[in-house]
Amino acid sequence: MTENITTQKDLFGNVVPPSRQRKRRTTEPFGRIDKDENLHKKLLDYCRLKPGEIWEDHTSGHRVGVLDATIREHYERILGSYKPALAVNDPPYNVVVGNSNTKHLSKVDVKTYIEFSRKWVLNCLEFLVKDAHFYVWLGADVRDNFQPLPDFMIMMREFSEVSPRNYITVRNQRGYGTQKNWMWVRQELLHYIKGSPPFTVQYTDIPKILRGYYKQVNGELTENLQRSKSETIRPGNVWVDIQQVFYRMEENVPGCYAQKPLKAIERIILSSSQPGECVLDCFAHSGTTLIAGERCDRQVITFDIDPVFAEITIRRLEHYRRTGRTGWQWHNPFPELEDTL
Ligand SMILES: C[S@@+](CC[C@H](N)C(=O)[O-])C[C@H]1O[C@@H](n2cnc3c(N)ncnc32)[C@H](O)[C@@H]1O
Repeated sequence: MTENITTQKDLFGNVVPPSRQRKRRTTEPFGRIDKDENLHKKLLDYCRLKPGEIWEDHTSGHRVGVLDATIREHYERILGSYKPALAVNDPPYNVVVGNSNTKHLSKVDVKTYIEFSRKWVLNCLEFLVKDAHFYVWLGADVRDNFQPLPDFMIMMREFSEVSPRNYITVRNQRGYGTQKNWMWVRQELLHYIKGSPPFTVQYTDIPKILRGYYKQVNGELTENLQRSKSETIRPGNVWVDIQQVFYRMEENVPGCYAQKPLKAIERIILSSSQPGECVLDCFAHSGTTLIAGERCDRQVITFDIDPVFAEITIRRLEHYRRTGRTGWQWHNPFPELEDTL
């Protein structure tokens, strides 16, 4: 796909007439990194971290590692004296993503998946402060008895140090499915708490439009809009105002198939942690939590088992600081590879 850019200029700064304009590409430079082994191999040459290594950010104190969420010692190493007040985790969902079963987004039997989950949850909870929030994105595979969401929820009952706080559904605009079924538009977000952490109420941009809920206040009949503190509605536990990421959005990171919307992660961070606090994400992928933390003045400790995704996470932060852009849209996060793609 290409797009005409009407303000293209030549070397002397003159606007190029439409007939002479170069067509610019508006497709992503490559497909899913986790799926394309050749591309993944090429990208490994450009990764600054090897498995087990940690990058330290000297500007805001973030850390990014190539580590394994199931290994306790990896948490000790990356966290040091940091004690996160919030964990936002988006593990592989144990569903076949986009018809591909790939190394780190793979589908295994549900028992193995729950063993994997038990390990990383145990590690993660141990290192949180005593009053903390713990969020997990997860899915239910309708073609496989809705696993692993209910299995994961039941497994979580083993962890008496946390209690369920909420169950959020993000309603995607676009979905998938056939005309014979309800369109699949949901993403599930589990919210647990450890101890009694503070919570800061957030608001959406959605105006309050429903009138007619009347109540007597000091002898006067008032309508609900008169009594409300805000012009807009609270997100509640069904979020309908967040666009899922696609290649035309600034925040898009080409090659990252499982990227979460920045707005969703920022909402979690702003409601469930305080400025200056530390946020942990054990499944970095495209680095969304790192960018959200940078923008919300939190220190983020994050890692991914795959050096390519850890590299993308670091590059996304550098790119954000350099350009103010939250992603690459359809442009290439590895421009040094442009000629060989
Ligand atoms: C669903 S994605 C996370 C998406 C992320 N929230 C974002 O917005 O980009 C899951 C990531 O977990 C990583 N992963 C898989 N197993 C892991 C493990 N044992 N430890 C750490 N990361 C792992 C995968 O490489 C993948 O990048």
